[in-house]
Amino acid sequence: MKVLVIGSGGREHAIVLSVSKSDKVDKIYCAPGNGGISEIAECVEINAMEFNKLADFAEENKIDLTIIGMDDPLVGGIVDVFEERGLRVFGPRKNAAIIEGSKSFSKDLMKKYNIPTCSYEVFHSPEEALIYLENQKFPIVIKADGLALGKGVLICQNLEEAEKAIGTLMLDKQFGDAGNTVVIEEFMTGREVSVLCYCDGTHVKPMTSAQDHKRALDGDKGLNTGGMGTFSPSPFYNDEVKAFCEEKIFQPTMDAMKAEGRDFVGILFVGLMLTEDGPKVLEYNARFGDPEAQVVLPRMKNDIIEVIDACIDGKLDKIDLQFEDNAAVCVVLASDGYPVNYEKGKVIKGLEKFKGKDDYYCFHAGTKKTAEGMVTNGGRVLGVTAKGRDLKEARANAYKATEWVTFDNKYMRNDIGKAIDEA
Ligand code: GLY
Repeated sequence: MKVLVIGSGGREHAIVLSVSKSDKVDKIYCAPGNGGISEIAECVEINAMEFNKLADFAEENKIDLTIIGMDDPLVGGIVDVFEERGLRVFGPRKNAAIIEGSKSFSKDLMKKYNIPTCSYEVFHSPEEALIYLENQKFPIVIKADGLALGKGVLICQNLEEAEKAIGTLMLDKQFGDAGNTVVIEEFMTGREVSVLCYCDGTHVKPMTSAQDHKRALDGDKGLNTGGMGTFSPSPFYNDEVKAFCEEKIFQPTMDAMKAEGRDFVGILFVGLMLTEDGPKVLEYNARFGDPEAQVVLPRMKNDIIEVIDACIDGKLDKIDLQFEDNAAVCVVLASDGYPVNYEKGKVIKGLEKFKGKDDYYCFHAGTKKTAEGMVTNGGRVLGVTAKGRDLKEARANAYKATEWVTFDNKYMRNDIGKAIDEA
């Protein structure tokens, strides 16, 4: 069969690699893809938001299955466009992707269906938000309602910071219309865990757990990024927590979406906080995490096409989802200055060292193939991932492998997986 993957980051590289391992697949395309993806798939120069052009391509090339990796096209309704044209596609429709596209929708859903989360209020005007903030406890969390490249969540330590955040989101419109509405919520403390789940609209199958590191600098300091590194599984996601989340969060979310007439088919990414009062939902996303996919997919034993087919056909209950009994760590190599200002076009050396090494992966996020060789082409450049028998071994292997690759202005965090030592 022929498969088309939509997206251009490390997550899509991990998806394409998993797809390439399926016996069912003869040919993979990726739009737009990147330098690393082009080594295992044919990259197609169509932007992920050009839905009709992508659907034309899928029709003309007789694509059997299209997998949507990114949030923007999902929230924008790419799945509806493909389905209207009779094309087989994996991802939630627009009316279900809203679970990521609108924070106020997801908070209201959790409240209505008693899914554990923190307390919150929704504001459509800066004046009302500012009056509300005068009597709140700090720190407090202010979120842009819409998509903001993972940067629309602001943790404010005092009233002054909160007023500034309202100005940034609602008045200066740093994230455009995403900040027309804000959600102001209680600041939760505890361990963060991400669980990605396959969903077929009725059934939900959670994958192995993971944890991301969102801040740019060591010690969880600096600006929020798309993610500087991950590890899987989380040692804090034990059997008791897992049982609670399955019963009180994952299946109830699936049922709630169905009850609202918004059947969720695709990947539901549940961001959790393990608080003193039990696990609570921090946020939902409607796709694989990036760089969570880079540590979860290499550990999955199943053929990804079989699992995706089962999701689309409403037969996920027939799948026995299995993960290797080991661990993986991903360290993102970024361009110094990310997520603000950084240079591109630096030649990357050492990529060949990953060839033939089964438990090491170099997922490309922002790279481009040129006459000079592979060059940097983004803030997050590579996701160096390694497996190990346990988390400590995986972390040591991943950091060893970061030394194999060099480029000018290479930057990484040196404490990915620090939480492993506290388990
Ligand atoms: N790593 C966080 C995300 O994918 O949203």
